[in-house]
Amino acid sequence: MITGKTKILGILGYPVSHTLSPVMHNEAFRASGLDYCYLPFKVAPERLLDAVGGIRALNIRGVNITVPHKERIIPLLDHLDKEASLIGAVNTVVNKDGKLYGYNTDAKGFIKSLKEEGIMPGRKKVMILGAGGAARAVAFSLLLNGVKSIQIYNRTPEKAETIVDFLNRVKSGIAKTAYAITPLKDIDILINATSLGLKKNDPLPIAPAFLCPGLIVYDLIYNPQKTGLLIEASRQGLKTISGLGMLLWQGVLSFRLWTGIEPPVEIMRKAIYRALRIR
Ligand code: ATR
Repeated sequence: MITGKTKILGILGYPVSHTLSPVMHNEAFRASGLDYCYLPFKVAPERLLDAVGGIRALNIRGVNITVPHKERIIPLLDHLDKEASLIGAVNTVVNKDGKLYGYNTDAKGFIKSLKEEGIMPGRKKVMILGAGGAARAVAFSLLLNGVKSIQIYNRTPEKAETIVDFLNRVKSGIAKTAYAITPLKDIDILINATSLGLKKNDPLPIAPAFLCPGLIVYDLIYNPQKTGLLIEASRQGLKTISGLGMLLWQGVLSFRLWTGIEPPVEIMRKAIYRALRIR
């Protein structure tokens, strides 16, 4: 029940209608007996400044930030967590007594999802397809978690080069730009961070012939849960991981930042599955 004491959280995005975060968090609040309510806020890019003023004026306790605001919100905040600053993107804001603190739980959420699948990033050789915001968070998290090498391939190579330059400033010699894809014989984990696979008739982000035995294939897309890439990888007998785990764990970490309470992970997982009608 919403009362005069209910604390408001939400997500700022454009569009925002597809988001599963309200379902995941509201179920978690109910299960934990917390008097919070999580709402979707459709905020056009030119209204972001007003929206952030609204967070302050309305005493909204916190928000998630999604596409296309993750980078542009940074100068509008009062404090930035170190990891969020390194990544250059914020997906979680906490309003502490009128001061807005920015965090990035995508990066840690990604690592948590890998570990949950029994995969330790240390010493792994990774190929990332794509060089947008998601690729950047994932690449940084892998760098900070001790991978042996990171190659980034992108349709527009300049964007891959920009991320690689950033990574090399944090820790040199690990990351490089891939200008072509060849069979991934020497790669442990392939990550699709492009948007190819979101739509039914999208081509695969990589030719099937380049997948090799032993490769782990992680697609950051969670809807559909089985993208064309993951279907092809399964067909070749490879281990596959969808973006559901990252979605879940970034939410778990945000929940903890807002409430200070241990999140009900399995309730959150079930809420996502139910929303996507996965058993
Ligand atoms: P996100 O925040 O989810 O990472 P984004 O920043 O829009 O989203 O990044 C989308 C990524 O998918 C980019 O790497 C983009 O490649 P470009 O940088 O060349 O635009 C990639 N992408 C989108 N459509 C693509 C396509 N048809 N073929 C190849 N890559 C594509």
